[in-house]
Amino acid sequence: MIKINENFLKLQASYLFSEIAGRVSAFQNANPDKEIIKLGIGDVTRPLPDACIRAFHSAVDEMGKDETFRGYGPEQGYPFLRDKIADMDFKARGADISSDEIFISDGAKCDTGNFQELFSQDAVIAIPDPVYPVYLDTNVMAGRTGGFAGGRYSDIVYLDSTMENNFLPDIPEQSVDLIYLCFPNNPTGVVADASILKTWVDYARDNKALILFDAAYESFISDDSIPRSIYEIDGAREVAIEFRSFSKSAGFTGTRCAFTVVPKDCLAYDSSGNKHSLHGLWNRRHSTKFNGVSYPVQRAAEAIYSEEGRGQANDLVTFYMNNAAVIKKEMSALGYTCAGGDNSPYIWIWGEMGSWDFFDLLLNKAGVVCTPGAGFGSCGEGFIRISAFNSLENVTRAMSRIKETLKG
Ligand SMILES: Cc1ncc(COP(=O)(O)O)c(C=O)c1O
Repeated sequence: MIKINENFLKLQASYLFSEIAGRVSAFQNANPDKEIIKLGIGDVTRPLPDACIRAFHSAVDEMGKDETFRGYGPEQGYPFLRDKIADMDFKARGADISSDEIFISDGAKCDTGNFQELFSQDAVIAIPDPVYPVYLDTNVMAGRTGGFAGGRYSDIVYLDSTMENNFLPDIPEQSVDLIYLCFPNNPTGVVADASILKTWVDYARDNKALILFDAAYESFISDDSIPRSIYEIDGAREVAIEFRSFSKSAGFTGTRCAFTVVPKDCLAYDSSGNKHSLHGLWNRRHSTKFNGVSYPVQRAAEAIYSEEGRGQANDLVTFYMNNAAVIKKEMSALGYTCAGGDNSPYIWIWGEMGSWDFFDLLLNKAGVVCTPGAGFGSCGEGFIRISAFNSLENVTRAMSRIKETLKG
């Protein structure tokens, strides 16, 4: 009799987005003439930069000719892309990362979900609350948690991000081994400055812990004083893995290209206390379970690093950040306390009522869909997340409908 991995039974049903979809379709059925504006999910709405499309097309043409056809590429990614990332995303900002420390992949979701495989079953995991759910669910699947009760799994150290700590979690009191951090944060939209990141790096160094740093939204940072990479912090090369993605920075959510940085100085230990290189272990894992991102997609990603591509990708970010500014300004003018939105496409709003009540109010009275904060963890209760990924016209119309609803 084949038995299942019973850890999967501990997972909570993917309640958030299915519940949202259910409420939206119930509203739409009851109000077929009402147009709904969606500012809920974190998917981009604008097309790929022109420079990427041209590189993409020409790489597809190469695949159609004998002389330029390519079969399997290196699992870690083509040097043409890894070199540019190392030079332009890291070395240019004073972060000492080399090309062979970069692993190209098809998404930060897979990488943030898969990286935990390298660690022991009894590793103590610290996870922010609220959180991008992938970090938590993949540790549940791996059997590192107990059951779910009262909104939380046992055996996880939750890092509370609340209004009181400005959504910047404190260092845990108990000792932890693996720490997930995400800045700019999804869902709160807050960023961490160098001194905060330094505190985490120092903690990890002192405790032989490791930081998994999700920087999927780094391109939305406009404040020059905020680090874009954890490797801008002294000592991080020894204790931090960084995840990046072209999904939000260049509209690649449907095209799929991302990368993970595993510095050669990052170590973890076996049960006898011997040191092991995480770079070697991840390389082994990646090349065993992954066969590389397609050549045309890597060429399209490379084009982001051309002068033209960089300008066009920056224009996309500026476009969404303009929407974020509109949302934040309007919600603040209505008297709501807002976080995020300055260096991130997400605005985190204290609703002064339950998350789902606020969600229902905006849906039923304004025809606008947001995301209830409670869906990201128990500390998200009372908040909603509004996303800047839409057209300026839709954002402006959504805001004027919300204004009418909340004023009235
Ligand atoms: C914090 C965070 N990390 C990672 C991802 C996934 O990125 P990718 O599209 O590269 O899988 C998302 C997507 O929404 C995200 O919000």
